[in-house]
Amino acid sequence: MQEIYMSAQHVRKTYGDAVALEDATLNLHQGEILALLGSNGAGKTTFIKILATLLTKDSGQVEVLGYNLDKHEKEIRHFFGYVGQDTERSAYARLTVMENLRFFGALQGLHKKQIGQQIDKLVSYFDFEANLNKLFMQLSGGQKQAVVIIRALLHDPVLIYLDEPTKGLDPIVAQKIRSFLKQYVLQEHKSLLLTSHILSEVDQLADRVALIHKGKIEVTDSPEELKSMIGVREFIELRKESLPTPTKEKILQHESVPFCVDSDPQWISFGVTDIFSGTEAVIQALREDNVHLTFRQRTVSLEDAYLHIIGALSDKFE
Ligand SMILES: Nc1ncnc2c1ncn2[C@@H]1O[C@H](COP(=O)(O)OP(=O)(O)OP(=O)(O)O)[C@@H](O)[C@H]1O
Ligand SMILES: [Mg+2]
Repeated sequence: MQEIYMSAQHVRKTYGDAVALEDATLNLHQGEILALLGSNGAGKTTFIKILATLLTKDSGQVEVLGYNLDKHEKEIRHFFGYVGQDTERSAYARLTVMENLRFFGALQGLHKKQIGQQIDKLVSYFDFEANLNKLFMQLSGGQKQAVVIIRALLHDPVLIYLDEPTKGLDPIVAQKIRSFLKQYVLQEHKSLLLTSHILSEVDQLADRVALIHKGKIEVTDSPEELKSMIGVREFIELRKESLPTPTKEKILQHESVPFCVDSDPQWISFGVTDIFSGTEAVIQALREDNVHLTFRQRTVSLEDAYLHIIGALSDKFE
C-alpha cells in the first residue's frame, strides 16, 4: 500500500443542533484518486471544506503529510489545492485567463518565473492555450471550471480536493476534464479527492470510493469490490409491463436467480449468479407460461452497488 498523505479520523461537525458529519474516517494515499459518494446532504462538502481549512471541525483528527490540522493549518495549506462549487466567483470576470492566473499565483507568494512555468505546464495538460487571452467572463462554464482548477494547482500541491468538478458540464466537456485530471494525477504523482453524483464518472476515475451516509463514512473500497457486494455480476432485465407476477415468482425460484431489483419504471432486473443458467431459467419460465417479451443482459454497475449499499444502510437506520 502507498504512503498515507492525508488521514482523517472520526471527524465530526455540527451546525447548531444539526449533525452534518458524525464520523468521517478516511485515508488518502499517495497517487490515488478517491471519490466521495453520497446523497444530497450526506456531508461531502462539509468534509471537504474541513480538509480545505474553510470550516473548523468539532472533533476528530486530520493529519496531512505528518502535520496536524489543528496546529499547522498554515503549513497544510501549501499541500493542497481546493476547488469548491462556486466557479463563477472564483476569478475576475474582466481580466483575461492569463491575468487571473498571474494575479492568483502572485497572491500565493509564488515567484514570477515559477508562475510562468506552472501556467505553461497546466495549460498544456488542460489543452487550454487557445483561451489564455480571453476574458474570464467570455468563457463557457466548462472553460471557467478548467481555469479554476488550474488556479488551484498553481502552487503545485500534492493533494487536490475537488467538490463536484464536472457539475453542470456537458458530457463531452466533463469527459475532457476527467481525462486531464486522470493524466495529471498519474503523471505528476498527485492524490485526488473528489465528490461527484455521476456514478459512471466515479467508476471510470476512482481507484477507491468512500460511501458517506448521513455524515458517516460507511464503506471505502475499490469500485470493483463495491460491485461485488451485490453478490451477482450480471443482471437479466425483462420488460415490466409484460411480465405476469407468477412468472416473476417462478424465475426467482431458480437457484441461479437469487433476487430481483424493481426500481426502474420499465425494467425489472434479475440478479444472476451465472449468466448461462440465469438466462436458461428466464427462458424456461417464459416458455412454460407462454410469455413473450423483450429481455436484455447487463453487468453490474457502480450505480447498482450504490443503490444496494445505501438501500441497506437506510433499512438499517430507518
Ligand atoms: N452552513 C450551514 N448551516 C446549517 N446547516 C448546514 C450548513 N451547511 C450544510 N448544512 C447541512 O449539513 C448537512 C451536510 O451538508 P453538505 O453540504 O456537506 O452535504 P453534501 O453531501 O455536500 O450534499 P450535496 O450532495 O447536496 O452537495 C446537510 O444536512 C446540510 O443541510
Ligand atoms: Mg455538496
